[in-house]
Amino acid sequence: MSNYGVAIRGTGSHMPEKILTNADLEKFVQTTDEWITTRTGIKQRHIADYATATSDIAIIAARKALTEANMTPLDLDAIIVATVTADMAFPSTACFVQKGLGARNATAFDISAACSGFIYGLSIVKALIENGTYKNVLLIGAETLSKITDWTDRNTCVLFGDGAGAMILSQTNQPTSIVSVYTGADGSYDTLLQLPGGGSRNPATHATIDNKLHCLKMEGKEVFKVAVTKMSDAVNKALDQANLKCDDIALFIPHQANLRIIEAIAKRLNIPVEKVFINLQKYGNMSSATVIVALDEARREGRIKPGDLIEMVAFGGGFTWGAAILRL
Ligand code: UT7
Repeated sequence: MSNYGVAIRGTGSHMPEKILTNADLEKFVQTTDEWITTRTGIKQRHIADYATATSDIAIIAARKALTEANMTPLDLDAIIVATVTADMAFPSTACFVQKGLGARNATAFDISAACSGFIYGLSIVKALIENGTYKNVLLIGAETLSKITDWTDRNTCVLFGDGAGAMILSQTNQPTSIVSVYTGADGSYDTLLQLPGGGSRNPATHATIDNKLHCLKMEGKEVFKVAVTKMSDAVNKALDQANLKCDDIALFIPHQANLRIIEAIAKRLNIPVEKVFINLQKYGNMSSATVIVALDEARREGRIKPGDLIEMVAFGGGFTWGAAILRL
């Protein structure tokens, strides 16, 4: 039995100002707006400038969430950042966010679960708030994927974008807002989606740079197939855990990697399109930031009413996957 519940007190998001459209991409890589639109649904993505790091956009999103929660940075006792584009290998991006916000009372750490990072974060926050460890947590999904993109590889460079989303979660005596979380992983798929260079396996050398091992590599077709299966399964697992049915969910917020993946999942699960939130046309795939930015937008667009159940689902490198059911 949990001692406490979790209340969602605020959300916020921020994308860098600069927009790269499909027409812009046509100018420097052999692709077309038509190919990108029909194969992915993406029309544009936001790109951080050279001097902007992941923590910079994370801090802006965090300030918006704190404002909505009517809290100051000093109220936070934990900051958790999900990212694959950390400012540095260390200190953690969460430490940079803590410094930027002046959140002196907060412990801070990052989690690495690629595109599923925010869902993994929800499972950690649920456990640590419900058992009384933390009272007020800032959970962030933030990425500057443009920094790890090979801009000469048309197979990947059209897909990704930069952005950050934040959520404030607090201890409450009311029923928990994180109704159910399910996560999974299968490391045997490691080679299909990875950033091979710069870590302890392939430390940075002139050769790793020349071979672009510091850039994201993906076997898109293979990733696609597993993504559809694992995300459909994750949606059902989180529903089963909470003894709920698809019909109980007011809005599904899937990872925004490819419109065809989202449509395939909706078809498999018999979910009507109007119950699926889609914003990938504006942002592309922002990895760990995707589902929290989408949730923040859905709230601001009035797509979620107080008391509604929503379900987020994500899939990414590792492979990792997960789904979370929230009561807003
Ligand atoms: O967030 C983590 C999870 N990531 C994902 O979920 C991504 C999953 N994968 C996908 O979304 C899709 O597999 C892609 C969008 C990456 C690719 O779509 P696809 O339908 O699987 O295309 P493909 O890789 O089979 O490529 C089809 C053709 C190829 O040409 P040939 O070999 O048939 O002559 C590619 O070279 O399309 C070509 N192609 C392009 N053409 C124009 C690949 N990228 C492009 C491009 N512009 N940008």
